[in-house]
Amino acid sequence: MIIAIDGPAAAGKGTIATGLADHFNFAFLDTGRVYRAVGLAMLEKNLDPADEDLAEKAAVSLSHTNLHTLLANPKIRDEATGLAASIVAARPKVRKALLDVQRNFAHNPYFPDNTKAKGAVLDGRDIGTTVCPDADIKFFVTASDEIRAKRRFKELQLKDKSVIYEHVLADMLTRDKRDRTRNIAPLAPAKDAFILDTSDLDIDAAIAKAIEHASTFIS
Ligand code: C5P
Repeated sequence: MIIAIDGPAAAGKGTIATGLADHFNFAFLDTGRVYRAVGLAMLEKNLDPADEDLAEKAAVSLSHTNLHTLLANPKIRDEATGLAASIVAARPKVRKALLDVQRNFAHNPYFPDNTKAKGAVLDGRDIGTTVCPDADIKFFVTASDEIRAKRRFKELQLKDKSVIYEHVLADMLTRDKRDRTRNIAPLAPAKDAFILDTSDLDIDAAIAKAIEHASTFIS
């Protein structure tokens, strides 16, 4: 059983994906972290994230043994890492290198302790359209630009009080635009996705709505 969750930054994908994975006892993969790991590898070596061949090398060298461990680096959630991720993610060679990593996880999901799971929840930008067009359940999670920027601002403020809302909004819109307009696997809802707008929903209500929808497919 594969659940695909796509949508723009800070729409609530991760929260909903975690809620669904917990509820159904499925393994969860945040595929944004996989792209972030490549972006971070480039930044940490002072390499230009737009250099496609070097970014491809970084993508290929990602360990396939336990993705959960690989993605635990705390710098992975930084805004700079997110921007670098969206640059490497627009390069076809990088996307190709990461496709099998994500598909293998979807079809053979495992928990952080390496035990097998009976289902997978993947969140990202192209899970329902490209990575797992065969997913059993697809969601496209969205919310207004302002609400998404406010959520991201609050999250970043916990780590850094000097963060500026206008900068967070601008960075988010830049990243969204790059994700929506790139030539390969652009961010877009799959034709058969359930659209879940979380603008007026709190966390519990958004998760409840997602579980209600998914339950119609899972007995
Ligand atoms: O979801 P998150 O903000 O962590 O993703 C970081 C970046 O990784 C996104 O802005 C997007 O460019 C890229 N990404 C992608 N395809 C995915 C997941 C993330 O292109 N499936």
